[in-house]
Amino acid sequence: MAGKRGALIVLEGVDRAGKTTQCKKLVQALQQNGRPAEMMRFPDRSTTIGQLISSYLEKKSDLEDHTVHLLFSANRWELVPLMKKKLEQGINLVVDRYAFSGVAFTSAKPGFCLDWCKNPDVGLPKPDLVMFLKLSPTEASLRGQFGEERYETSVFQRAVQQKFEHLMKDASVNWQVIDASASIEDVHEDIATHSLNTVSTVENQPLGELWK
Ligand code: ADP
Ligand code: TYD
Repeated sequence: MAGKRGALIVLEGVDRAGKTTQCKKLVQALQQNGRPAEMMRFPDRSTTIGQLISSYLEKKSDLEDHTVHLLFSANRWELVPLMKKKLEQGINLVVDRYAFSGVAFTSAKPGFCLDWCKNPDVGLPKPDLVMFLKLSPTEASLRGQFGEERYETSVFQRAVQQKFEHLMKDASVNWQVIDASASIEDVHEDIATHSLNTVSTVENQPLGELWK
């Protein structure tokens, strides 16, 4: 009989909600619980496609809006064989942003509907758990200034937040809203509890397909 598979766990949220901090802590906690775990992040700027995206985000190049959306999606698809292999090997994947960021950011631009934005990501490995780190714009601003990258303005981030709220109404995805305003340790406890439950629940279940 095949061994137990790993869980696909995604952290989403607005800028400075604590996604990267919490992904790292979660990987450590899972490992300490005897659960193999690795972190991934999207965009993965290390690939050829990822470098095109990175240059766009750093405003070193301009790309047409539909084109960059499809590149973000292609950047996920190119990692799918590796993701599936690791999950099959029983490695739990903790992912910093996924298709939900893809849809929320592009659909916050004028002239994009949600369905068009979702289409290229239909059929990606479906996360077993998506935790949305919720933080008000005021609290986020207390964690530091915006950086210099594209999309890092309060007006755009508010539009993105609204798109996330809409995506979270989709009951086909296992969304959990996390209060990201608590201390790093308290947020971690919350995230670790949800994740350990999910890891045990899905280990004998097949991996799903997103939005299918
Ligand atoms: P994101 O990946 O969501 O942009 P980061 O994990 O990079 O967020 O965190 C953004 C900043 O906020 C960092 O300086 C980090 O140390 C700080 N931070 C993260 N979580 C908390 C928290 N719960 N309380 C206070 N500051 C936090
Ligand atoms: P990221 O590298 O996670 O940067 P940060 O640590 O500053 O959050 O994400 C880069 C930016 O790309 C971020 O503004 C969100 C955006 N993004 C998209 O527009 N589409 C996508 O599909 C993804 C994954 C991210």
